[in-house]
Amino acid sequence: MNQPGSTPAKDKEKTTKDYASYFQTTYQPPSLKDAKKRGKEQINIVKDFAVDEDLKKIGAGKKFYIRTYGCQMNEHDTEVMAGILSDMSYEATTDMKEADLILLNTCAIRENAENKVFGELGHLKPMKVENPDLLIGVCGCMSQEESVVNKLLKTYDQVDMIFGTHNIHRLPQIVKEAYFSKERVVEVWSKEGDIVENLPRVRKGNIQGWVNIMYGCDKFCTYCIVPYTRGKERSRRPEDIIEEVRHLARNGYQEVTLLGQNVNAYGKDFEDIEYGLGDLMDEIRKIDIPRVRFTTSHPRDFDDHLIEVLAKGGNLVEHIHLPVQHGNSDILKLMARKYTREHFLELAGKIKNAIPNASFTTDIIVGFPNETEEQFQDTLSLVKEVEFDAAYSFIYSPREGTPAAKMKDNVPHEVKKDRLQRLNAVLNEISLRKNQAYLDTVVEVLVEGESKKNPEVLSGHTASNKVVNFRGPKHLIGKIVKVHITDAKTWTLSGDLADEKAGVV
Ligand code: 5AD
Ligand code: SF4
Repeated sequence: MNQPGSTPAKDKEKTTKDYASYFQTTYQPPSLKDAKKRGKEQINIVKDFAVDEDLKKIGAGKKFYIRTYGCQMNEHDTEVMAGILSDMSYEATTDMKEADLILLNTCAIRENAENKVFGELGHLKPMKVENPDLLIGVCGCMSQEESVVNKLLKTYDQVDMIFGTHNIHRLPQIVKEAYFSKERVVEVWSKEGDIVENLPRVRKGNIQGWVNIMYGCDKFCTYCIVPYTRGKERSRRPEDIIEEVRHLARNGYQEVTLLGQNVNAYGKDFEDIEYGLGDLMDEIRKIDIPRVRFTTSHPRDFDDHLIEVLAKGGNLVEHIHLPVQHGNSDILKLMARKYTREHFLELAGKIKNAIPNASFTTDIIVGFPNETEEQFQDTLSLVKEVEFDAAYSFIYSPREGTPAAKMKDNVPHEVKKDRLQRLNAVLNEISLRKNQAYLDTVVEVLVEGESKKNPEVLSGHTASNKVVNFRGPKHLIGKIVKVHITDAKTWTLSGDLADEKAGVV
């Protein structure tokens, strides 16, 4: 296990170059090798988070801007960091140019996600030159990677702070250090992670809320960096989660999404109780909140009890995101997904039987090492058989430190691109067909806001997670309304308010 992070000395004489050598000798970067050793470290539940008195005013008169990349877990972490910064008297801004503190909350899942961040840091350099008091921080999954930290230290001297996914609660101290030392602060704990319960939070809007139910992932799919960047699976206690959902319900939220990298492994780490995601959902469905979602599931952990509970319906929505990743059992084995094509098809059939109106979405990777045309065809045939409502499809991207990165990345890029296009054509054809089945039906839509393309149009989701656009008065935002579907495209439905006078269900 690494030492729990460290910060460089505050020697003002040192140049950036000196610091690079300093880090090499005394700073231990996050280690993927260490992250892989699971199980030894005690998980602590910390309930006494508070911003130190002397740091509560440190941001007075200053503004912060956080750019979030990647998944909902990062969105969630951004809400927490915004909460902490607000407790330090910082004010949020949506204009990067007027910010005194900029954080990039990064994603490491694919190379192009990382390239976007390095590109953005390039754009920030002139801002830093113009305003040396501007503080720039890199946090999130990329900062858990030793190669990234080394690259930032070596070539991105505009970065003042680098901190990891386990260090978010240390943000006040990190910012203080960065201000007063005027030198770079690096704090990346390569540990399995604690659970910090009472962190402040500025949620985006008051319609939909994320509720983290567990952290980390122990699945170690061979292509994936997440188990290394997010630590060991650790579940929050049910009573803390239920209290948070109740709090959102009391505050008028219409929807919660229970979050975890591997959400249906929830509870497996409890030593004192036998309690899983099915049990938790069975309790949450009794809370008076119209919609409850959860993401992301792993097929291997999708047990019968969970299906049974989801089939009870009510506020448990009929949308299931179930990443399959591939349709060929040999590739699934190389990916260490721990299920076969047949097992996935059986599971999908079981869920469809129990919840006949369920909509299914998935994640798929093409061009994994050694993937043959025939094996790729298995992905196409699986997609056709399951008929996913929608899917995120990706070209395989080798991630340093993962087992797959040691395999020869032997599918030529042109072939990968071609397979992705062919896969998307099949997926899109099915999505369109599935959406067309909604024509001339009336659906319930949670109105989330104005459509991004046209402020005259309102936009929201059905319980089955279809995007619906329609014209209506703005006061419907945050309400669940009935919409008559008149048009169906590949990714969106549109229609008219079913009862313009009543409007609200
Ligand atoms: N290359 C491409 N796609 C990846 N994913 C995870 N790791 C990689 C990788 N190395 C995809 C998986 C996962 C989704 C969040 O990102 O499909 O489900
Ligand atoms: Fe990554 Fe998901 Fe596999 Fe965990 S289960 S290793 S997060 S793809």
